Amino acid sequence: MIIPSFILPPLPSDGPVKVLFVCLGNICRSPAAEGVMKEIVDSQGNPARWVIDSAGTGNYHIGDLPDPRMRAHARRRGLNLTHRCRQVCLSDFDDFDIIVPMDASNERNLRALAPSPQAEAKIVPMARFFTLATRYDHVPDPYYEGAEGFELVLDLLQDGCQNLFDTVEQTFTH
Ligand code: 4NP
Repeated sequence: MIIPSFILPPLPSDGPVKVLFVCLGNICRSPAAEGVMKEIVDSQGNPARWVIDSAGTGNYHIGDLPDPRMRAHARRRGLNLTHRCRQVCLSDFDDFDIIVPMDASNERNLRALAPSPQAEAKIVPMARFFTLATRYDHVPDPYYEGAEGFELVLDLLQDGCQNLFDTVEQTFTH
């Protein structure tokens, strides 16, 4: 499924497309999104044309690997999550082309941090790319949930990241 490309901010005409996924803790949702997106790019695209990273609006877990529950659920889908937690920072608005918050709280925090309207235009919520689970308008925080919460995160991200990938690739071929 191709999402209308007007959802995307302006992308560079040369060089890689740089995508930053953002959640609160950077130990569950956004490192999972990074892992899902890297797997899609590795298997369907050209890794040299992409830079993919993740960060958290909070600073509780800096330097940590993703939550062991997120890693275990991801591993069952063939994904090895090795990201080290970091906090989102002002220079991320220079360093990335598309900044993808997982929920409305992450989005509000990013909008407050954005140094310019052009920087703010880089923020595109993950749920804008959902096509299967359209009853979800965000990626729910699984931290206080059980296994089903982590599985839901991966289901939503596999749909959304595929559509993000397809939409960016389409802008290159037109
Ligand atoms: P994430 O989940 O934002 O998907 O990484 C959370 C991880 C940790 C906390 C909250 C949410 N925490 O409060 O420590």
